[in-house]
Amino acid sequence: MDSFIIRGPCRLSGSVRISGAKNAMLPLMAATILTGGRCTLRNVPRLRDTRTMMKLLDVLGVPSSLEEGTLDVDASSVGSFEAPYDIVRTMRASIYALGPLVARFGRARVSMPGGCAWGPRPVDLHLKGLKALGARIRIDHGYIDASAERLRGGQIVLSVPSVGATVNIMLAAVLARGESVIENAAREPEISALAGALRGAGAAIEGEGTSTISIQGVESIAPFDVAVIPDRIEAGTFAAAAAITGGDVELTGCSPEHMHAVIDVLSACGASVEQGPGTLRVRGPGRIAALDVDTGFYPAFPTDMQAQIMALLCIADGASTIVEHVYPDRFTHVPELRRFGARITLDGSVAVVAGVERLEGAPVMATDIRASSALLLAGLVADGETKVLRIYHIERGYEGIEEKLGALGADIRRVPE
Ligand code: EPZ
Repeated sequence: MDSFIIRGPCRLSGSVRISGAKNAMLPLMAATILTGGRCTLRNVPRLRDTRTMMKLLDVLGVPSSLEEGTLDVDASSVGSFEAPYDIVRTMRASIYALGPLVARFGRARVSMPGGCAWGPRPVDLHLKGLKALGARIRIDHGYIDASAERLRGGQIVLSVPSVGATVNIMLAAVLARGESVIENAAREPEISALAGALRGAGAAIEGEGTSTISIQGVESIAPFDVAVIPDRIEAGTFAAAAAITGGDVELTGCSPEHMHAVIDVLSACGASVEQGPGTLRVRGPGRIAALDVDTGFYPAFPTDMQAQIMALLCIADGASTIVEHVYPDRFTHVPELRRFGARITLDGSVAVVAGVERLEGAPVMATDIRASSALLLAGLVADGETKVLRIYHIERGYEGIEEKLGALGADIRRVPE
């Protein structure tokens, strides 16, 4: 397991190109199963999760190849309906295979995803949705067994606007007989991107981006050729890196229109954020201003940026409060940030961060994708050497992050273990 060594403090400057969004790419890759043909995805990031989903598709008999950011997927002949535990346990989004397999073939056997670094992550809403479309669901030896002669349209009200459940239900409903309506659907841009791709392939979908999505089932959909939207969380992470180092960074190939809440919070921290078409220019303040942040469902401030903004607030002028409303226990980064000298107290889903003048470099452990990026941010601004262990977590969600940070002036190098 490789590590990163970072020497700080540094001040980032220059331009960085934002990659395609992991959380838009994964549903699109699963959607190819519905088409029965050869699909193309462009602007695909080279991530560990990209390879994991390619491996899962391959196990299902759907070969793919990734060249220079273009992914070709041949879904003309699915040979298996089982997503095995050893793949699902490494990437929760493997469960996206469930909806399309049942919709197109009437059967699927997908391992229950385990928990993750910060605790249980249920899939009850995925299963409730598929049942509402007529699927028979059985849990058997840690696997979800789903079957249906032909899915039929249904009404689903999600108790939580779950991204994953909305994806799975959409992918199932597209080929169901009749109309489906998803109430309290997730409104993320990645959902809208999926709906756009499915509509372009012949699906009848309305309402994406709102809390109510209606889908009129069709007999089949055609293969699609789409570009993956920019990664708003990668962009937010680099914007936070510019802010925490007091730097001046231009983000290109990004989507400011998907980042209003993040831009608002960074501006409230004192950063200067200038929006352009597909670009953001972020300049850090002399001192980060303390503030209170609540995470929430899109378009609120994303939980996937909570760890990164906490890193920023560790050196703020005063005390800040972060309330985590999506995953109340998503704080595995807190003990690691404390190793830099950060002063953070936790009370349930509330973190209080008392800003300090300086952080000190330290050896720390990556635990999940976003917590790991927060440790990189702290290492950029800490005095001395930081070693981030188990960086495979970072590689799941950030394409070439050490090259991108190095090009902006960071002193970062990879150390093979
Ligand atoms: C997606 O996960 C993202 N992953 C996560 O990003 C992100 O943190 C999360 O949405 C929230 O924005 C991908 O898109 C691949 P949810 P997902 O279902 O779909 C509860 C990253 O770093 N819930 O929207 O698993 C759940 O416990 C990852 O890129 C149920 O109760 O999240 C949580 O409280 C980490 N039952 C809330 O909904 C269910 O069946 C939101 O979860 C499903 C979810």
